[in-house]
Amino acid sequence: MHDIPVIIVTGASRGLGADIARWLATKGARVAVAARTLKALEAVALDVDSAGGQSLILPADVSDRKACERLVETTLHHFGRLDGLVNNAGILAPLAAIGQSDPDTWARNIAVNLLGPFYLIRAALPALRNAEGRVVNISSGAARKPIGAWSAYCAAKAALTHLTAVLAVEEPRITAVALRPGVIDTAMQALIRREGPEAMDPEKAAYFRQLKQDGRLEPSWMPARSAAWLALHAPKELSGRFVEYDDPRIADPARAMFKTLSP
Ligand SMILES: NC(=O)c1ccc[n+]([C@@H]2O[C@H](COP(=O)([O-])OP(=O)(O)OC[C@H]3O[C@@H](n4cnc5c(N)ncnc54)[C@H](OP(=O)(O)O)[C@@H]3O)[C@@H](O)[C@H]2O)c1
Repeated sequence: MHDIPVIIVTGASRGLGADIARWLATKGARVAVAARTLKALEAVALDVDSAGGQSLILPADVSDRKACERLVETTLHHFGRLDGLVNNAGILAPLAAIGQSDPDTWARNIAVNLLGPFYLIRAALPALRNAEGRVVNISSGAARKPIGAWSAYCAAKAALTHLTAVLAVEEPRITAVALRPGVIDTAMQALIRREGPEAMDPEKAAYFRQLKQDGRLEPSWMPARSAAWLALHAPKELSGRFVEYDDPRIADPARAMFKTLSP
């Protein structure tokens, strides 16, 4: 019982995070699912429990430092250990050029995408050191590639990726990776298709619409499988690295371990 891994997944109410929780459950993991929307978390928790895992529902806004600390404390109180933290909760807004961005919305982006992971990592460090655990920070191609009208998101994901590298330098007992999950068919992409044409370079906005039309968006279960594998088994040599979800060093063992096509 005590060896069953315990993993916190933020942004687990839908999209990529929900599928990460579902994959972890298929391996019997104990999964603390966190996000703001209780009803959606309850549905994902049911999936976790019926797939062979054990869920713990933790409604929380990751931009709130105290809420992040409570989230880690409650997980430790409930399950007695912590083996992995998947910082997946993320937002895109503001979709606006720097000169037109609302400063409060910009700051909110940094609070959710960067400060939240920092608060959670900081609170989880002692338990993760004890367990020689793992941190998977969900990054983005936008961490490397500048995309007009996405300044806060690009800056937050670039910083999150570098934070991952610093964490790896500081914490030899912990394995930390930043994962690029591809372009995924979730609510975030729907937002880009809806609001992108108003704010973004027309060619770039059209590119994202075309991906959807051509059926070329990744289904969330696919990068989620890589993220779930990393949360359980990320090897030491990847610590501090920014990795692609379909990198064969990750996707191959993930496919082999989880076997079935979708959760
Ligand atoms: N979709 C893509 O193409 C793509 C590409 C690269 C990277 N990513 C990254 O993948 C991750 C998952 O995104 P997704 O595509 O699955 O988007 P999504 O469907 O919009 O899901 C975002 C998740 O984050 C949660 N969340 C948002 N704000 C939160 C807050 N303040 N506190 C706690 N939870 C919060 C949401 O739940 P609540 O609303 O219930 O709080 C939801 O569960 C994000 O980090 C995103 O940046 C996505």
